[in-house]
Amino acid sequence: MFVLTENPSVANKFLAELRDVQIQKDSLRFRKNLERLGEIMAYEVSKSFEFSPKDVKTPLETTKVLLPKEKPVIFVILRASLPFYQGFLNFFDNAESGFIGAFREEGETIKINLGYHASPSLEGKIVILADPMLATGKSFMESITTLLQHGTPKIIHIACVIAAPEGIQYIQEHLKIPYQLWIGAIDEKLNADSYIVPGLGDAGDLAFGQK
Ligand code: URA
Repeated sequence: MFVLTENPSVANKFLAELRDVQIQKDSLRFRKNLERLGEIMAYEVSKSFEFSPKDVKTPLETTKVLLPKEKPVIFVILRASLPFYQGFLNFFDNAESGFIGAFREEGETIKINLGYHASPSLEGKIVILADPMLATGKSFMESITTLLQHGTPKIIHIACVIAAPEGIQYIQEHLKIPYQLWIGAIDEKLNADSYIVPGLGDAGDLAFGQK
């Protein structure tokens, strides 16, 4: 498990701004900070890829560079994931994309409703599932069950900005295929409404306006 904020870096500033109730009023900045964190996390994830040498011809000579052997499929969970996913796509600029529509049904118990999904074949590929908030872990697991309808990936990289310990534990107990967790910060707990505390609030509403 990789946790970005275990080491001090400028990423902490972007995360702090995402949490700050005053700065959150600027939704363009909120989306931009999610996108920046997506780019930073993508860089970290890319270090786990396999690379092979390739010749590149400069105007002066030919030199060898190490390039990734494979391109990933990046999944966006609509709608809250869009800016974070865009950061990953900026970095893995020739990646394929998969789409899942997921929303929480309001009620006594939390029910995740998955609607639309579209994906290329995932058989043997590297999948990155980018969703900023890992709360209960249930929507991540349901998204993974949905994406597995398109083939079995070689590995799933689960990337989030903020995770609750409950969500991490849920993934660890239920996910039975190879995966790796990439987390911006691990927070304290979930509240009674399954929001992450201290967290940042509702990422989808903050990025795209209230429901
Ligand atoms: N989704 C959010 O947007 N925020 C949380 O705290 C939990 C899930």
